[in-house]
Amino acid sequence: MNTALIGLQWGDEGKGKISHYLSDQFDVFVRFQGGGNAGHTIYHEGEKVVTHFLPVGIVHKDKVCVLGNGMVIDPDALIEEVKDVASLLGESVDDICQRGYISNKAHVVTPQALSLDAQREETQKLGTTKTGIGPTYESKINRTGVTVGHILQDTSSSRYREFLSRFHGRIVNTEVLLNRLDSLGREIFFEGAQGVLLDVDLGQYPFVTSSNCTPAAIGTGAGFPMSKVDRVIGVTKPYSTRVGAGPFTSEMSDQEDEHFRHLGAEFGATTGRPRKCGWLDAFALRYAVEVAGVTEIAVAKMDILNGLDFVPVCVGYRIDGVEVRDTLNFPYGDQWDRAEPIFEDWRGWDDEGGHAQFLVQLATFVGAPVKHVSFGPGPEATQSS
Ligand code: GDP
Ligand code: IMO
Ligand code: MG
Repeated sequence: MNTALIGLQWGDEGKGKISHYLSDQFDVFVRFQGGGNAGHTIYHEGEKVVTHFLPVGIVHKDKVCVLGNGMVIDPDALIEEVKDVASLLGESVDDICQRGYISNKAHVVTPQALSLDAQREETQKLGTTKTGIGPTYESKINRTGVTVGHILQDTSSSRYREFLSRFHGRIVNTEVLLNRLDSLGREIFFEGAQGVLLDVDLGQYPFVTSSNCTPAAIGTGAGFPMSKVDRVIGVTKPYSTRVGAGPFTSEMSDQEDEHFRHLGAEFGATTGRPRKCGWLDAFALRYAVEVAGVTEIAVAKMDILNGLDFVPVCVGYRIDGVEVRDTLNFPYGDQWDRAEPIFEDWRGWDDEGGHAQFLVQLATFVGAPVKHVSFGPGPEATQSS
């Protein structure tokens, strides 16, 4: 079954961990949006591997990995990542490159885009990852961007020589490749980056990233029709985290924030920044499930809340004294500044896997079944139903 996996919150939900756990089921792994802003951490045969541009399926020798046209790629940073992965896996750099394909239509993050991202942060203060995302997508939409195909054809420049020689023969029309692989019956996995609340259209604009993070982006960012995607897995934690600026309605008290950040090791995989912690915003989750067409949920990091008698869960907001509990009135723009959380206490669980009541309550509230539960960073600490 062709499958999409996306984040339902503000990124860092544990997408990498769940993707890796499921990876045996698939032949082809695809990234379709975002770039070096992503940081997906997995434990593969005991090694900690962090991917930014590569889908986590890259750790498997016999699988195909695709960086789709909707991505923005920094060739230098990608080569660094390939080298890191090769050395962690004890393989050669060429071995890793030879299981990847890169879209000739993906856009290149130039050194200018990187410095512009950093420079703009001084005034705009969105808390970006400074990996050139905004300026690169901006040039793309402005039709002044540089694609991977452009640099492949530009024989006068030696700027990207190593990248081009390492990926010789691997820069192709990945959109056609993916549709052909599907016709041959290969199982394709689409690994989302970031999360629905960071989606440039549906998230908390302007405190968002510059790409679409819902499965809708598979059609445009991989050239693969959504009608051929059979299931959409949405990943969440039983609490929330956010890095960078923007509304965070269910934020914890300073003391709780500190406690759960350390317990959950909530520090950015890309930038090392501390992630702010909040209680689960189940109302935002319901919105995300609804607009992203999620068919099943994976809950990661259940172990971090082990042993709480009750777990505070945000089930709606109060805006200007009015209760908002219907996602039709989900806040936008400045309304977020005035949104206050309405919390309910949901029964917690013990540390022996007694999650059932919480998960049933969650599934009922957000409108999709919980099919996967993760209670540790390694693939073995996962249960599916
Ligand atoms: P992603 O961006 O959604 O892939 O998530 P990240 O990898 O950035 O952040 C998730 C962090 O939580 C990583 O450090 C994972 O190793 C870790 N993690 C994932 N699932 C679990 C879990 O069930 N329990 C614990 N304790 N850690 C987890
Ligand atoms: P993964 O895939 C968490 C956030 C940044 C900032 C905003 C814009 O690991 O879940 P950008 O660099 O994209 O222009 O930054 O988006 N952000 C993420 N937060 N996880 C991510 O990716 C993120 N990618 C971007 O912190 O608030
Ligand atoms: Mg991450």
